[in-house]
Amino acid sequence: MRTSHTLSGNEVHVWESSLDRPALVVRRFEELLSGDELARADRFRFERHRLRYVVGRGQLRSLLARYLRAQPAQLRFEYGEFEKPALASSDVHFNLAHSGDVVLFAFTRAAEVGIDVELEEARPRDERIAERFFSPVEVATLRSLPSSERARAFLRCWTRKEAFLKARGDGLQLALDTFDVSLAPGQPVALTRTEWSSTEPTEWSLSDLSDERAGYIAALAMRTAAPPVITRRTLTPSDEQTLMRQEER
Ligand SMILES: CC(C)(COP(=O)(O)OP(=O)(O)OC[C@H]1O[C@@H](n2cnc3c(N)ncnc32)[C@H](O)[C@@H]1OP(=O)(O)O)[C@@H](O)C(=O)NCCC(=O)NCCS
Repeated sequence: MRTSHTLSGNEVHVWESSLDRPALVVRRFEELLSGDELARADRFRFERHRLRYVVGRGQLRSLLARYLRAQPAQLRFEYGEFEKPALASSDVHFNLAHSGDVVLFAFTRAAEVGIDVELEEARPRDERIAERFFSPVEVATLRSLPSSERARAFLRCWTRKEAFLKARGDGLQLALDTFDVSLAPGQPVALTRTEWSSTEPTEWSLSDLSDERAGYIAALAMRTAAPPVITRRTLTPSDEQTLMRQEER
């Protein structure tokens, strides 16, 4: 596993992985989870959602443990008012997002971070959804695009907005039309307005993490004026085995 596990300055490490893992691996990940995570896993109605949750939390713990030089099972999460997970007593900020079997993780020491991903076919791209949730400026921008561009622009807007909400830890209680993000192709990726502050947009960096080959649109938001230095990595099944062998030592 060729990775540096130091995180300095404005660095963000973005890991991509799959949540589709064999039963043996799921069982190993289950052993890393806390009682409240196992209880949460058992509340999923569908087995495939339970498995995805277990694998996502297992991968999260394994990766965080490398940055913190700790044991994955010993990490303790605390939760914000709207359920954003964070580490008790650590300067590492993280966030994760999944769509289908794709999962993205972001780790940084620089600032609060939020990440979102949507498989291109995952969400209905109905204009009525945009009209209901997006701001008037965003709806107008979407309508001005050729119809062939709109589906991707819709997901760019959606993921940028969610990444921003997730960085703030607000969840969907913050109305999506109270702030604007860019969404047109070729436009700089940015938070352009918030209803509550004229200076807040200058405090944030938004980045596009979309991967056309993998078929997803994704975004990262960080509370930092200087654009973050993003390093992207893939967590493979063989990386996971390396992590697990190290845990056994
Ligand atoms: C956060 C939220 C926008 C994510 O929505 P989503 O598109 O379904 O899910 P994503 O794949 O993007 O992200 C899920 C991950 O984000 C993290 N997360 C959960 N709540 C979060 C929050 N408020 N802010 C940031 N990240 C959050 C978790 O790690 C979660 O994955 P996990 O449960 O497998 O660990 C949505 O779950 C939400 O609004 N939650 C808030 C809940 C809330 O307000 N509850 C009311 C309490 S009074």
